[in-house]
Amino acid sequence: MGRLSVDLCGIELDNPVIAASGTFGYGCEFAEIYDINCLGTFSFKGTTLEPRMGNPLPRIAEGRGGMLNSVGLQNPGVDAVIAEELPRLARFFRKPVMANVSGFSVEEYAQVCEKLEAQPQVGWLEVNISCPNVHGGGMSFGTDPESAAAVTRAVRAVTAKPVIVKLSPNVTDIVSIARACEDAGADGISLINTVMAMRIDLNTRQPVLANLTGGLSGPAVFPLALRMVWQVSDAVHIPVIGLGGISSAEDVIEMMLAGACAVEVGSANLVRPTACRDIIEALPAVMDRLGIDNLKSIIGGAKA
Ligand code: FUM
Repeated sequence: MGRLSVDLCGIELDNPVIAASGTFGYGCEFAEIYDINCLGTFSFKGTTLEPRMGNPLPRIAEGRGGMLNSVGLQNPGVDAVIAEELPRLARFFRKPVMANVSGFSVEEYAQVCEKLEAQPQVGWLEVNISCPNVHGGGMSFGTDPESAAAVTRAVRAVTAKPVIVKLSPNVTDIVSIARACEDAGADGISLINTVMAMRIDLNTRQPVLANLTGGLSGPAVFPLALRMVWQVSDAVHIPVIGLGGISSAEDVIEMMLAGACAVEVGSANLVRPTACRDIIEALPAVMDRLGIDNLKSIIGGAKA
């Protein structure tokens, strides 16, 4: 147990840095750049029952301090993930991986999780009720406590693996949704997914994204994520993973002081593919500078 290690729902991570879903694929492209076994773990691309091509192009736009995506849950479908991606991953990744799951009905979430339950490489199920880029699924389950609880309950019933529910910031009262998930059997909460946003091209005078709106991520959303992590970690008794704009070791420590037991790094991977590794390598020196002996001891430390 090193000074960077943390516990996530009963599974020890060597460090709290998790590459976020949607920014790390199923791991293989990043494994060509560095040894991804240095990560705490990573959360693979949001996976649905059926394969999905995603939304029409363009589906990426830049913003000041961040970027917008409207990918629309492009993925090969859970059967292909099990048949191809997980066996490939096992060749180069020795740790449990986090499976990010999306759906268009409560039953679909449960079906995907039931299939992943049988996969030994999957350590945690991250149930994504917060994708803002699809209609009739994703975020529509995460903006109301009852729907959030219904998905959580259905998934809970089919798996013994830790269930982490990923929440949307596009709500008025995120605390009530987090509590509903906890009451329905969630083992952890991750937040925040992206913030609904848009851009307009001044030359065409049309929205940049074909889907009109997309999810904003990157440093611009960090203070918003931090505030929500603070509120949710105060309100629930299960572990909270903080994400949203984390791009440095200092951001990791700030998020943990707000109450996160681990963090996810998302769009920073798209700016600098080695971002997660760089952050992990920078942590010990930043901890020394700030007088932090071990990371577990600072979780929620700003609330003392
Ligand atoms: O559009 C997408 O695939 C994004 C998914 C998410 O934000 O959860």
